[in-house]
Amino acid sequence: MLESATPPADPLFGELALPTGDIMGRLDGKNAIITGAAQGTGEVIARVFAEEGARVALGDLQDDRGKEIAAEIGETARFVHLDVRREEDWSKIAAETTEAFGGIDILVNNAAVLLLAPLDEIGREDFLRVIEVNQLGPFLGIQTVFPSMKERGGGSIVNIASTDGLKGMNGVAAYASSKWGVRGLTKSAAIELGRYSIRVNAVCPEAGNPNMSAPFLPGNPDLTNVPHKMMQKILKAPEPPVPGSRLRDVANMALFLASDESQSCTAADFVVDAGLTAGSFQDGVPSA
Ligand SMILES: NC(=O)c1ccc[n+]([C@@H]2O[C@H](COP(=O)([O-])OP(=O)(O)OC[C@H]3O[C@@H](n4cnc5c(N)ncnc54)[C@H](O)[C@@H]3O)[C@@H](O)[C@H]2O)c1
Repeated sequence: MLESATPPADPLFGELALPTGDIMGRLDGKNAIITGAAQGTGEVIARVFAEEGARVALGDLQDDRGKEIAAEIGETARFVHLDVRREEDWSKIAAETTEAFGGIDILVNNAAVLLLAPLDEIGREDFLRVIEVNQLGPFLGIQTVFPSMKERGGGSIVNIASTDGLKGMNGVAAYASSKWGVRGLTKSAAIELGRYSIRVNAVCPEAGNPNMSAPFLPGNPDLTNVPHKMMQKILKAPEPPVPGSRLRDVANMALFLASDESQSCTAADFVVDAGLTAGSFQDGVPSA
């Protein structure tokens, strides 16, 4: 929350301060749908958005957890069962959000599934399941919220991709395909919907909920920490931040993109990776 101050009307710099009035939340008056909000990154995004004044509709397959979180957030939150692969579920969450809050201003496409497996062992069904949740889901979400955002004169769509959508890695053939796809969808949608003042951006986190990779690494829980160790090597960094604070970083980036603070940001990738994709630190080189 920020203290208010008098806004100068400068065409280039925009509002340098918030309008005079009460203390404001950065998403005051906005209505958001957040998918995959029953745990992990989506849960943190929902809580942060609500803290900043948004009314939030949480969509997920996990009804009990989703309802608990919505109840904890309070009056300004609703849980709606959502399988992002199903058009009828999208229609339902859009209708319930509109009925409860009056329309949709923000969509965060966060729900996703991971598959860590050797390329030659990924069956057609498994590959398609990942693509359906991670890539078709956000596409259906954008199609669903478009009419409401158009009618309201604009909106912000935030697609949670991954650093696996910026580079490759062994074991993630299906997941990386889906996350590269999300970035392509982001750019196409931003270009097509820009005329309606709808902005579309991608966030590319390196990390999320460690529980996402844990089931694929039985007996190797330390491997969920591998990216942290890689980051430490690149940045010669001390101890990496705790996972909780890093989810908060992803949520803060989504908050910035969802808010009116980022009005000139669209069709872009916003990387939250502590420098992982920067390159490498070469020992033995002057400066090392
Ligand atoms: N975990 C990581 O290391 C990591 C790294 C980079 C990016 N990400 C991305 O961050 C986002 C959030 O992931 P997370 O780390 O919080 O993982 P998570 O597993 O805690 O959260 C994913 C959520 O999506 C929900 N979900 C799965 N399938 C769904 C469906 N068909 N319909 C609706 N909801 C569904 C799950 O129930 C869960 O609540 C994802 O887009 C993920 O790809 C995660």
